[in-house]
Amino acid sequence: MITRLLNAASMLALTLSGICAAAQQTPPPVYLDRNAPIEERVEDALSRMTLDEKIAVVHAQSKFSSPGVPRLGIPELWCTDGPHGIRPEVLWDEWEQAGWTNDSCTAFPALTALAATWNRDMAALYGRSIGEEARYRRKDVLLGPGVNIYRTPLAGRNFEYMGEDPYLAGEMAVPYIRGVQQQGVAACVKHYALNNEETHRHTIDVDLDDRALYEIYLPAFRAAVERGGAWSVMGSYNLYRGQHGCHNKRLINDILKGEWAFDGAVISDWGGTHSTREAAQNGLDIEYGTWTDGLTEGAGDAYDRYFLAEPYRQAILSGELSERDLDDKVRRVLRLMFRTSMNMDKPFGSLCSQEHTAAARRIGGEGIVLLRNEGGVLPLDQSKCRRVAVIGENAVKMMTVGGGSSSLKVRHECSPLEGIEARAARAGVEVVYARGYVGDVTGSYNGVETGQDLSDQRSEQELIAEAVEAARSADAVIFVGGLNKSDHQDSEGADRLSLDLPYAQNRVIEALAEVSDRLAVVLVSGNAVAMPWIDSVPAVVEAWYLGSEAGNALADVLFGDVTPSGKLPFTFPVRLEDCPAHAGGEAFPHDGKTYYAESIFVGYRGYERAGVPVLFPFGHGLSYTTFDYSDVRIDRRRIKEGETLTVSVDVTNTGSRAASEVVQLYIADPSSSLPRPQKELKGFEKVALQPGERATVTFTVDSSALSYYDDRRGEWVAEKGEFEVLVGASSADIRGRAKFSLK
Ligand code: BGC
Repeated sequence: MITRLLNAASMLALTLSGICAAAQQTPPPVYLDRNAPIEERVEDALSRMTLDEKIAVVHAQSKFSSPGVPRLGIPELWCTDGPHGIRPEVLWDEWEQAGWTNDSCTAFPALTALAATWNRDMAALYGRSIGEEARYRRKDVLLGPGVNIYRTPLAGRNFEYMGEDPYLAGEMAVPYIRGVQQQGVAACVKHYALNNEETHRHTIDVDLDDRALYEIYLPAFRAAVERGGAWSVMGSYNLYRGQHGCHNKRLINDILKGEWAFDGAVISDWGGTHSTREAAQNGLDIEYGTWTDGLTEGAGDAYDRYFLAEPYRQAILSGELSERDLDDKVRRVLRLMFRTSMNMDKPFGSLCSQEHTAAARRIGGEGIVLLRNEGGVLPLDQSKCRRVAVIGENAVKMMTVGGGSSSLKVRHECSPLEGIEARAARAGVEVVYARGYVGDVTGSYNGVETGQDLSDQRSEQELIAEAVEAARSADAVIFVGGLNKSDHQDSEGADRLSLDLPYAQNRVIEALAEVSDRLAVVLVSGNAVAMPWIDSVPAVVEAWYLGSEAGNALADVLFGDVTPSGKLPFTFPVRLEDCPAHAGGEAFPHDGKTYYAESIFVGYRGYERAGVPVLFPFGHGLSYTTFDYSDVRIDRRRIKEGETLTVSVDVTNTGSRAASEVVQLYIADPSSSLPRPQKELKGFEKVALQPGERATVTFTVDSSALSYYDDRRGEWVAEKGEFEVLVGASSADIRGRAKFSLK
């Protein structure tokens, strides 16, 4: 017995050593070797794949996933919206909810709010936090950030983007992307490019001159790719010069992959692919969402019928299309996988952590913009203000649900009223609420239910009378209104119909202004609105869509726990027709071919050129303290191409509160051979100052900040001659200047 046992043990030992020896003799394949360079892993995996396996990885297998290579142990790739939180799980083939109970997320402030912080550290915090949530939810690609330029205040998706200035959008996108990708999750920068309207987003054919393309609409994408190192880019729905964004030769092959040397994957917008040949040849790498209507048409074999599925395979087999193009796509897809799903060192992430809640509140508080504050209405003076009336539907309406693909299912959402009530209770301040108006009462989006019943049958007169009554008896009145992510009110797929506030809001505000001289209007929106009542309303706050912590972040600012430091990432025009995109008289939204006649004169560049007054300029935002700017200086009066210029300014907090100020640097090129804007943003820094404290803020200007895109030569040109640096608190509040020349 003993002998037999010994024999068995020694046989086991022999077998084990045999396995080990075998294992030693066959090292893992290169593509599975975490220490091998990614390019070697890519080539190794590619060399092992069959044609069918290659075809499989370049198109979707479900609403949000594409296959891996099961035979080789390469996992699937999972995408998620984006860009403000992680979208709840939908059914395999449908937009409807999958009904999971573990997919509630933290909603971060909308990207307009992030841009309004003008704080790169907030963008990094945002990227890291949302990347952790994506990672925890086992997503590989986050569909965001969106960096399309704010061309008109009617565009439905402006709230998902970062404003009208390419430099600001680029600077804020870069840390967001890096933060996401540190988690082993790819950012997917969207929507490349020229996706500036919703109504005809699938059919509008945009044309514009190359200066506008290169100077206004592309720089944020370029920054995202070249400096942010984005691992994926989403093609846009619209056409550019007759070709859809998802397979546009010039945009993708020539510019993105050519000029910017993008080595990642181009992912189609959902349903944005329209041709096998163009998709094959013009740089699309993964096709998603074709038949986005829930696949009613495609039934069981829908994914096989995608443009980059069976039709592509057949075209390769018949020699009509080349396998070389397919290999390039597969390389890019594999590179994306090795960076994300196959990254064996990635962290595990976290969902709805206290840190994420704190990040959402902090970013929200920093993004809120104090537009107007006459007579010191804000912050609420707790010693004098014993009773606050809060009026308006947006004080209670859940705003994380709705708006399109960025709609979320949240673990918690603090409404403005709840935030104000909680803070007021701590100060012993009484809060009364009145609805004021009825706007959008829907409480569900794509199957996510808010659980709110906002229906109210009262007439406009009754609602206004109740609001006025509440306001009369209060020491301060906070009206919370704006837009609301329902159709035509900041929403994907439906542009706004006018610049005006919807519903009866203007009449409510006017009625409140008659009975209260301590009225603050708080706008929850991602777009500029007209303010016909502006002269009779002492305080106006732009509070954006702030996500899970909306109410707390707002209360922080209203009660002065946080001193506002946000600045506008876009201009508020007085009238829609003042907006450069509308000034030419062309109707918006527009179907068929459209030409961006305003060229580079978008946003403040256009308002300044036309000399039209605006309601609130780009870069504007007040504080509860005051800042003095002095001694704008440059380190030399002449620079040569390739040299840099240092610009310094002393900024002093001359008030009594600790606060941050966004110091903005613009460049003017008064004598240029091509028309140029009066000034262009080329630098900004956010500086935190204690009362009385002074700091020197320094900027470095290089010739790229002086250049324009010469469309005759097809290159960036810094033209010799005189330039001016302008340093200020907004595009319209320049506090100091200095001249220099480029030799
Ligand atoms: C939107 C994208 C989104 C995608 C997936 C599309 O309709 O345009 O922004 O990422 O759907 O939901």
